[in-house]
Amino acid sequence: MKICIIGYGTVGRGIVELIHRKKLDITVVGICGRNCGVYNEKGIDLSMLIKGTKGVGLDKYPHARNDIDANKMIDMRCADVYVELTPTNVIDGEPGYSFIKRILANQCHVVTSNKGPVVLYYKGLQKLALKNDVKFLYEATVGGAVPFLNMVRETLRGNKIINVCGILNGTTNYILTRMGAEGAGLEQILREAQELGIAEADPSYDVDGIDAAAKAVIIANEFFSANAGMKDVDVCGITRITPEFVSLADKNGFSVKLIAEVGRDVLRVSPRLIEKSHPLCVDGTLNALNIKVDMAREVTVVGYGAGKYETAGAVISDILSI
Ligand code: HSE
Repeated sequence: MKICIIGYGTVGRGIVELIHRKKLDITVVGICGRNCGVYNEKGIDLSMLIKGTKGVGLDKYPHARNDIDANKMIDMRCADVYVELTPTNVIDGEPGYSFIKRILANQCHVVTSNKGPVVLYYKGLQKLALKNDVKFLYEATVGGAVPFLNMVRETLRGNKIINVCGILNGTTNYILTRMGAEGAGLEQILREAQELGIAEADPSYDVDGIDAAAKAVIIANEFFSANAGMKDVDVCGITRITPEFVSLADKNGFSVKLIAEVGRDVLRVSPRLIEKSHPLCVDGTLNALNIKVDMAREVTVVGYGAGKYETAGAVISDILSI
């Protein structure tokens, strides 16, 4: 299988490293950065690429060309699967939305970790994929490495979904956990979360609950046919939560967690008190999702919602499933 990667940030690099290290039967023919690209129809030499782009942008790689960009590479139809990894933008979904539309219209499959286009244009993109008989997959957008979307779609097939509730943002979980453990303030811990590479490019997306709300919208549209947008989510972030409040909750057997709830009549993200013995009460950068359904009753999945190899792994799983 041939793939082309659009967006060579942390996740893109993670994918390339994993394909190389695990010797996966995936040929990377193209990689696009912001204003440049690397292309080899027989397959890019990944070992050379990894070494040549260590600590620098793709534009500093001697084999990167300025005469090739994402749109050109899309129109070349050089790959079976295009992996779209540009940063999330929940205002207009760009630049990812235009790339994805163009790829699907060209009858190539799309795998993405970019929440923006899925949040804003879910129905239209699904229709376009169907019309062109190609796949549009985005497992990494909800819960990162936690296999939630595929689990509900496939393993829980036939169940009626009652509601989904969980921790969908690792950065805020990390902040709240550290606040409880050390009494440190939000700003300081947020800086550390940024160093860990788990925070969004604009970290207000994390602390204001926007990132969790985007994931809640994806769940609502996919599993409740909600036709929801960001404005339909009742959102409250964690900026007003103090270390004192977290510590008081702790003394009474509770943890403070930023919880997303999705159901037929509810679409909400807010800080909540969770009993320490509850399955959703997981710490650090972990995500946890609890789903209530009619047959299996209740399933909780826990895992890493962010991180270079964790997110890359979810993207690779989508590629391999195609
Ligand atoms: N900033 C996000 C998080 C990354 O902390 O969960 C994954 O979407």
